[in-house]
Order: sequence, then C-alpha cells, then structure tokens
Amino acid sequence: MTTNKKRVLSCIQPTGHMHFGNYFGAVKNWVDLQESYDCTYGVVDYHAMTMPYDVKKLRNNTWELIFNLLAVGVDVDNLFVQSLVPEHTELGWIFNNFAAMGRVENMTQFKDKSSSENIKDKFISVGLFDYPVLQAADILIYKADFVPVGKDQSQHLELTREIANRFNNQVGKEYFVLPDTLFTETPNIRSTADPSRKMSKSAGEKHYINVFEEEGRLRKQIKSAVTDTGEKTEGEMSPGLEGLFTLLKAAGNIEAHTTLMEHYNADVLKYVDLKAAVADTLVELSTQFKERKAEIVADKKNIKLQIKQSSAEIRKVAQTTLRDVKELVGLLNVKF
Ligand code: TRP
Repeated sequence: MTTNKKRVLSCIQPTGHMHFGNYFGAVKNWVDLQESYDCTYGVVDYHAMTMPYDVKKLRNNTWELIFNLLAVGVDVDNLFVQSLVPEHTELGWIFNNFAAMGRVENMTQFKDKSSSENIKDKFISVGLFDYPVLQAADILIYKADFVPVGKDQSQHLELTREIANRFNNQVGKEYFVLPDTLFTETPNIRSTADPSRKMSKSAGEKHYINVFEEEGRLRKQIKSAVTDTGEKTEGEMSPGLEGLFTLLKAAGNIEAHTTLMEHYNADVLKYVDLKAAVADTLVELSTQFKERKAEIVADKKNIKLQIKQSSAEIRKVAQTTLRDVKELVGLLNVKF
C-alpha cells in the first residue's frame, strides 16, 4: 500500500456469471495492472441494488463474483466489498450536494437503463438515477489516479471530475485528485451465436460463454459459432470469423493466430481448424481457472475471512478521506 506507484481503482457489479467478454474486456486487464500500479478493486453490491433485483440472490452473487475474480488472478489484498466499506454511501450523500442535477439527468447509462424494456414493473428507482454519484464516491474516496473502464463509462468519469472540482472549489482546497480514465487496448469480444452483437449475458444463454464452463459445452458453443454465410465480401472478414480470431489472440495463442491468419489470407482456411484452435485454447485457459476456483471454493471459509480483512484494511483509507471531508464541509466530526 505504501508505495509511490500510481493508484488504480475499478469496480464491478455482482451480476450473474463471468463470461469471456467480461474477462478479456475488463478483468484480465485488472489482473495485469496489478504489476505496475497500486490497485484497489471493488465488488459493488450497493450499485447492484439500483435495478430491480432478487434479494435472495445478491449476497450469493457477491461471493460468487469474488471467488471468480480470485480464480482468474485478482490478488485478495486488492479486493473489497462495497457494503463492507459503508463510507462509500456516506460520501455519496455528501457528493449529492456537489453534483449538478442537469448533469446527472444527462447520463446516457441512466437513460438506457431506465428506458429499457426489461425493467421489471417499469420501476425506476432514485438509486438508479443517483448511481453515478455513488460511483464518484467509489473513485474519489481512494484518491485514485486512474480508473480503467470501458468507453461506456467515460461520461461517469467526467461527472466524477466535475464533482471533485466543485468540491475543491467550494472548500477552497485542492483536496481531491482529478482521476483520469485508463483506456487500455481491450479486445471487443462478440457473441459467437450472433457476431453482430457483443458477448453479453442479457442477450440470453447462447450469447455468452462462461469462463468456468464445463468443457463439453464450451466446445459445443465454439463448434456452433456463426462464421459467415458463404458469401465473401472482397477484402473484408466476416464478423463471425473476426470474432473467432479475436478470441484466439485474446487468449494468447499467437502462434495459432498467425498460422491460421496466413491460411485465411491464402484462402485455404478451414473453419473447423480455426474453431478447434479456439476451443482448445479456451479450454486450456478455462481448465486452469476451474482448478483454481475449486481450490478457492474448498477453502471458502478462509477466503471469506481474507476478504473481510482486506475490506477492513481498505476501509481505513476510506475512513481517513471521510474524516477529512466532514471536516472540510462543516459536518460534526466527533470520535465516539
Ligand atoms: N458503473 C460501472 C459499470 O457499470 C461499475 C462501477 C461502479 C465502477 N463504481 C465504479 C467502475 C467505480 C469504476 C469505478 O461497469
């Protein structure tokens, strides 16, 4: 913790399974960043309450995601659960008063989620609206320098900077660091069943491949991947083939990628060969992850204890920030 490395913060919502789109698109990056930055990663269960959800599943999803993150290489010391650091919500409340209504109203993620057909009972919560303010608290409470997120989050990052800026101006002190987005090259993972859309859970079972999938089903999903309709557009690879090549590269099988790309360019690529290479590579990766996960699950009790401890350690940073903030904004700051 006490290094002069730059601080990276990112968070993920505990929903459903971890698929290869989540893994190659975000989580692998988290794992890799741990080498060069002081990283803090949160499983944000308060955020998961903003859409209608099943109260019986949330806690399990949170633990499940933690086991998954640890299984693919996130360091336990870098991981916390948001609801174990309740200061996030308290800072979120304070930030509500530094966030401009008009700006929050403009967030496209809110517009998308609140207009989406799959919102149960057409119920739109105030929490969903306020979500980006809580996100600003997640980031600023740790004085993060960098936030690795996808392009879809850049608006939330901009709002975070605005809140920090207004806060600093209001209290007359450059208290908060204005965080930057860390855009890293992450591959665009497509659904194998419909390569025109990205791999995602919300599109349905066919449209994502679980990182911990049982081997037979994983192979089957690759085998049935859509390639092309037979008609080739000159000089342009079909989205299906491109998707398979992307998976191969993302999973690190550069050798097979190079060879098969040569075949493609020479017009002699057999799709079965490409699919076999993708399936073998993903199965190999998945097997490692499953082995690691089995160990973690077998040691569940101890792992949960470690997460409570890491959350408590990380919470100390949050508590310090909150004490400073309460002081700066004129709230009472007594020790009980
Ligand atoms: N909003 C992010 C997403 O949908 C999740 C998130 C919540 C987050 N708090 C954050 C990401 C703080 C980065 C930093 O993916």
